[in-house]
Amino acid sequence: MTWVLWNDRLVKDEEIRLSKEDRGYQFGDGIYEVIRVYDSNMFTAKEHIDRLYESADKIKIVIPYTKDVFHKMMYDLIEANEVKTGQVYVQITRGSAPRTHQFPATVSEPVITASTKEVERPVSQMANGVAAKTVEDIRWLRCDIKSLNLLGNVLAKQEAHESGCFEALLHRGDTITEGSSSNMYGIKDGVLYTHPATNLILNGITRRVILSCCEEIGLPVVEQPMSLSDVYSNDEFFMSSTTAEIMPIVMINGEKVGSGIRGEWTTKLQVAFEAKINQTINV
Ligand code: PDD
Repeated sequence: MTWVLWNDRLVKDEEIRLSKEDRGYQFGDGIYEVIRVYDSNMFTAKEHIDRLYESADKIKIVIPYTKDVFHKMMYDLIEANEVKTGQVYVQITRGSAPRTHQFPATVSEPVITASTKEVERPVSQMANGVAAKTVEDIRWLRCDIKSLNLLGNVLAKQEAHESGCFEALLHRGDTITEGSSSNMYGIKDGVLYTHPATNLILNGITRRVILSCCEEIGLPVVEQPMSLSDVYSNDEFFMSSTTAEIMPIVMINGEKVGSGIRGEWTTKLQVAFEAKINQTINV
């Protein structure tokens, strides 16, 4: 049986009742998180829960639980479903009210739903690398908020998918921002480049772990936007996300990046990242 979280209760999937007037459904008026589960433990749980509360705050949703209570609710969900290697998806909407663009006059209760499932680590893609397609970044200017409004991301990913690519490499003009559901990194002459954590990208939790791994392995980091026109001159390129971890990008728009296989620095980062996963498992 699959258990899901519905506000403060664990219920059977079919018991959930959501209103057609839910503002998440009507406006995408809400926020979400995806958290990795390894060996039935949440990886970087604190960072994800902190970011969830920050996203809520940025759109003026008040989550009616303390972070500790929230954390426990996520763990109970994982435990109830006996998930080992997987993910938790949690979303919070502003709740349900008659449709008006402005916030409802009377305070609506946020609606929280969460589910968890098994998701294998993408081991072979992490070893062999994937292809990306460049797509213009047409999203709004608050990409730092993990908002349910994902139409720009969805359209970009679909375009990449239709070209047989794993991910869309988004750019605003000549500036590379991030992926449709990932952060992007180039490595050139032993230096890692990635877009700074501004309003134009989501500051990935995986990205933060990677930056600390760079320090550990002695790979200098420059948080500076990369130029699209120079993208093929990178020695190595990769993307990161909660579910994809560190995923080499070996081909962009059908052209090889570097030697067209996973690079040495990328491999070292994967090893350092794996060590961090193992540290979490062994606590
Ligand atoms: N996506 N940038 C965007 C636009 C994202 O949607 C994501 C994550 C990231 C990477 O963030 P993190 O390392 O915290 O997962 C960057 C999630 C996984 C998703 O929407 O499924």
